[in-house]
Amino acid sequence: MTAIALSSADPTSITADAIIIAVAAGDDGVRLLPGAEPVDAAFRGSLATTLGHVGATGKAGEVTKVPASGAAKATVLVAVGAGTLDGEGTTRHRETLRRVAGVGARALAGTPSAVAALPVADAGDAAAVAEGLLLGSYMFSDYKTDNGKAPLGAATIVTRKSRDKAVKAAVARAEIVGEAVNLTRSWVNTPARDLTPAAFADAAVAHAKGLRLSVDVLDEKALAKRGFGGILGVGQGSANPPRLVRIAYRPSRAKRHVALVGKGITFDSGGLSLKPNDAMLAMKSDMSGAAAVVAAVVAVARLAPRVAVTAYAPMAENMPSGSAQRPSDVLTMYGGRTVEVLNTDAEGRLVLADAIVRAGEDGPDLIVDIATLTGACVVALGTRVSGIMATGDDLLEKVHDASDRAGEQMWPLPLPEELREKLDSPVADIANIGERWGGALSAGVFLKEFVPDGIGWAHLDIAGPSFNDKPFGYTPKGGTGAGVRTLIQIVDDVAAGRL
Ligand code: BES
Ligand code: MN
Ligand code: ZN
Repeated sequence: MTAIALSSADPTSITADAIIIAVAAGDDGVRLLPGAEPVDAAFRGSLATTLGHVGATGKAGEVTKVPASGAAKATVLVAVGAGTLDGEGTTRHRETLRRVAGVGARALAGTPSAVAALPVADAGDAAAVAEGLLLGSYMFSDYKTDNGKAPLGAATIVTRKSRDKAVKAAVARAEIVGEAVNLTRSWVNTPARDLTPAAFADAAVAHAKGLRLSVDVLDEKALAKRGFGGILGVGQGSANPPRLVRIAYRPSRAKRHVALVGKGITFDSGGLSLKPNDAMLAMKSDMSGAAAVVAAVVAVARLAPRVAVTAYAPMAENMPSGSAQRPSDVLTMYGGRTVEVLNTDAEGRLVLADAIVRAGEDGPDLIVDIATLTGACVVALGTRVSGIMATGDDLLEKVHDASDRAGEQMWPLPLPEELREKLDSPVADIANIGERWGGALSAGVFLKEFVPDGIGWAHLDIAGPSFNDKPFGYTPKGGTGAGVRTLIQIVDDVAAGRL
């Protein structure tokens, strides 16, 4: 991953290949944002005019490269459009910084080193720039015989507060968070042929090694012995048997316990309720929730907050075959409740129900599940906003606020009581689908049935943002690592008594 350093030096005096600055639309032409002053001085105050001459306008995401022509040690200057950068210290301001840094890093693929001369006034700003650089420089080339350009190798963030303890700590945290997001992305990008449930479980165990984490993995035999009917039912059509991974972080003197449950469908063909080819194409990403909870608990073990965290990742491949579950089959879930499977493509809620019941046995104060659960959520909120559902408006608002501070777009959705009876089954305790309308909500209502009474629960539907078509800001094409930053923020907030 890109190495991050801090410096208070004049950016033009730092040995690097490129300098990243931010620009915005001004009254007459493009205007430089704070941080770029020493660069402008080296250009004798003509930098904005020069950038304007080659077409810079300052609109969000715009990249303008100009040669430094001896004005700086670096050879190239990258001016990134910030759009509107208002409200210093706000979450929006920080997200703009994150995106500017990300666009700069992405534009500098193939470049060994860069200096970020951006408006960094405090620890929060420094963290945002560090995250943007780390996330924007991510590339996935595991399957290219010719790797092409290497990602940006190193970056120095310039700020007057480079020796400030809080700034250093914020950047160190950003590095851990960035690594977790990028790890999630790579798992999501790995084809399902290679990331089978067993391979995914092995990779999770490998990443938990050497940290203060205890790991257990249930294979198909152990799952059968204990009655995990949801995970087994979904996985029974595949030649690659399912797993349930549990990773526990138990610091001393923890007062509270957060359970993170992530959907881990390594490939969702739909099963016998087969998806059309186009809908199947992105379905190697249907384990994004499981990847997020595993990466998050690994990050948490590194950050070492005083709160217990357990990640549960049910992993299965949803395939059609002679051994696959049938529409109309009835499963006996972990804990004994029965589910009529009316549609084998509504499989995420089946594996999650088992894992949520299992999580409840460990007596957490809060359960947060995260899943690429419904196409309906994508219809409702689009591809960049995740849905949040929760037991109680206070929890809903607090999770929303955590996502906002983490720089992730999420929005509250309801769990309407009247949708429960649509899930009534004539043969089992509940059916796995209800009516078509409000599909994201009925999925949430289904999951709620399996949450033990008295435990707070929030559900994040990341079906839209987890896999991305076209790069923007610090978000690459493919796996995005959606939700990881929010999960880590939730744990921090619980540790701080804020949630
Ligand atoms: N994994 C899909 C949801 C999904 C769709 C994720 C698009 C990402 C992008 C999920 O398992 C699914 O197939 N859901 C069905 C539910 C339906 C059968 C009730 C859906 O959304 O169509
Ligand atoms: Mn499905
Ligand atoms: Zn699915």
